[in-house]
Amino acid sequence: MSKRIAVIPGDGVGQEVIPVGLRVLAAVSGSLEFEELPWSCSYYERTGRMMPEDAIERLRQFDAIYLGAVGWPTVPDHVSLWGLLLAIRQGLDLSVNIRPVKLLPGVRSPLLAREPESVDMLFVRENTEGEYSGAGGRVHPGGSDEVAVETSVFSYRAIEKAARYAYRLAGQRRGRLINVTKSNASRHAYVFWDEVVEGLGREYPAVEVERVLVDAMAARMVSHPESIDVAIGSNLFGDILTDLGAAIQGGMGVAASANLNLGGDQPSLFEPVHGSAPDIAGKEMANPIGAILTGALMLEHLGDSAAAARIEAGVVEVASQGMTLTGDLGGQASTREVGEAVAQAISRMESRSRAV
Ligand code: IPM
Ligand code: MN
Repeated sequence: MSKRIAVIPGDGVGQEVIPVGLRVLAAVSGSLEFEELPWSCSYYERTGRMMPEDAIERLRQFDAIYLGAVGWPTVPDHVSLWGLLLAIRQGLDLSVNIRPVKLLPGVRSPLLAREPESVDMLFVRENTEGEYSGAGGRVHPGGSDEVAVETSVFSYRAIEKAARYAYRLAGQRRGRLINVTKSNASRHAYVFWDEVVEGLGREYPAVEVERVLVDAMAARMVSHPESIDVAIGSNLFGDILTDLGAAIQGGMGVAASANLNLGGDQPSLFEPVHGSAPDIAGKEMANPIGAILTGALMLEHLGDSAAAARIEAGVVEVASQGMTLTGDLGGQASTREVGEAVAQAISRMESRSRAV
């Protein structure tokens, strides 16, 4: 049965990497129907909103959402993000954000002498509340008496959902879960977080859970990435550590992510980790690998693991050959050329496998 995908290229390089991602998705699957939605900062400039009032309702009609990037210098970032991406994460209850950090063969990590097998971490980020709850306000605006309050919100329900998901993933991998926290300086929220995450561990006896403070975790990702399997963290910690993860896996351009609705009754959203990159937008320089691998995460989630595996194999092939890569990975190819090379690698592999 065909799946309906809402496509939101968004801003900046989102407009360049998403068409390439769609090209690769079409190469591996004949059962996706795409509908493009123009919601973005230029939509805001025309309408005064990042997306229509009934956007969440409309998105619920789709099986998944494929998104490029949000943000442009003409609109304050907190307005564009709360008007689109963060509103969708909360509105569709996209409880976890899954971010694999894997080194591709042929891609050089800034960490010396790292082979692909030594970098294979998976981050589970609580995605609807914590430091991103949006609760707060400003008092006495405009003078030196002004005060701003931004309150973190941690609910049992949200921590539990993310933690159970992380335990299950760890159980399917190397059986090790790192609970990233800051319960030495915080006395309330992260202490509660630890109690919930670690308390649930009793129900997953095959998974070994280890508590690591977020500052120490940042150091460990650089010094001993091979010791990290699955990690779970709050919204902000997950955000920061996955940019570090992206750098370790070769750069922001190769990192993929999935914002998942765990109930399965609302569509999940898939987006590369990089932003709209105004400095290189419109130049066909952006690396589309993050968007392409994000497409593979989407297919996996929609139940087509075989097609997802074909995309990954195509990317691995192009990365290991090292001939058609964008400037960030030391090559000279354009965004579109990389996409074409991946699509061709996929079709070559398919004709080879038909020949045997
Ligand atoms: C990400 C981004 C967003 C986040 C921003 C744009 C709000 O950095 O998806 O990692 O912090 O979640
Ligand atoms: Mn981020």
